[in-house]
Amino acid sequence: KMKIAVLTGGGDCPGLNGAVKWITKSAMDSWLSSKRATDFDVIGISEGWRGLVDVDPEDPKSCERYLKPLDEEIVRTWDRYGGTNLGTSRTNPFNPKNDRSDILLDNIKKLGIDVVVAIGGEDTLGAAYRLHKLGVKTIGIPKTIDNDLMGTDYSLGFDTAVNVITEEIDRLRTTAGSHSRIFVVETMGRHAGWLALHGGECSGAYIILVPEYSFSLEEVCSLLQERKGREIRYAIIVVAEGAKLAGKEEVIQSDKVDEFGHITLGGIAKFVAEEIEERTNYETRHLILSHLQRGGTPSAHDRLMARWYGIAAVDMILNEDFGRMASLQRGEITSVPLKECIGRLKLVDIEKYYDKERYNGRRSIIR
Ligand code: F6P
Repeated sequence: KMKIAVLTGGGDCPGLNGAVKWITKSAMDSWLSSKRATDFDVIGISEGWRGLVDVDPEDPKSCERYLKPLDEEIVRTWDRYGGTNLGTSRTNPFNPKNDRSDILLDNIKKLGIDVVVAIGGEDTLGAAYRLHKLGVKTIGIPKTIDNDLMGTDYSLGFDTAVNVITEEIDRLRTTAGSHSRIFVVETMGRHAGWLALHGGECSGAYIILVPEYSFSLEEVCSLLQERKGREIRYAIIVVAEGAKLAGKEEVIQSDKVDEFGHITLGGIAKFVAEEIEERTNYETRHLILSHLQRGGTPSAHDRLMARWYGIAAVDMILNEDFGRMASLQRGEITSVPLKECIGRLKLVDIEKYYDKERYNGRRSIIR
């Protein structure tokens, strides 16, 4: 029997459980795998790479804690639920400050794992690539609500997050209008502005600020004044958490870096709202959507993509397409080498979205 270990790494999101379900189901379902000669065992690893490193293969209690044998019955309803039933962590066994790749390799061998399927973003799949280079059969599935992974048009979690942003801003609009206020809404997205861009576009934001194009407050305020001239009472500004102020990139971000070097949530929206209030006669409020964007049940699109990616991962195992990631390209499921998905991110290129005349000379993106 071939033993498949499945893990979810990095930030959780809706769609992870569905991917685990469909890997398990398509590996074990006799109808789906009728053409298949190989029999599989599927084991869920708790808490991402941490589980595979911390587990003690010789201690049954530890194995019980970190290894979850999966079958069709166990995962039957998983696709309806958000988060990850396996648990996750940001542990990277190849972290140069605490390299634990020897233990990882040793555990994989001792546990008799034949293939590792890693569901995650750039960091998790970076570790999968390193593991592949060390001779372990690995497969990746793309996941990040930021949708900034290279090599695929779609990463699990993004659609649900855009829906959350849209729904929340729909609610905000009524109160913003009633009080004639400017609302600054902060989305996730440290490096890439996809969530802010799509969330802002779907919810009718007046201005969208993304990390890829640093913005000027003068310009934001003058756009708002322009709007006032048209006698509209309120406006929604969507700002990605990693958006930068032109010329002062360091100032905003330097005191907002957490222990992992991530910019912490909650800085930029408050800053922009306060500056607007000071520079104009508008009353402002801010809202940080934060982890709400990663919560709740998966959207229909995330359920579908989780299913397609899960089935694709098992097909890749059968075809021995190791060292690759399942991917969506122009509406079709395919796969790409893990190497092409890591080391850089897929960023917003505004020229692809907007006619030059719409944004020319302006750094802020206007809907
Ligand atoms: O990478 C996904 C993501 O949701 C980012 O958009 C966000 O910056 C980060 O994770 C938040 O991390 P945490 O859940 O550790 O606070």
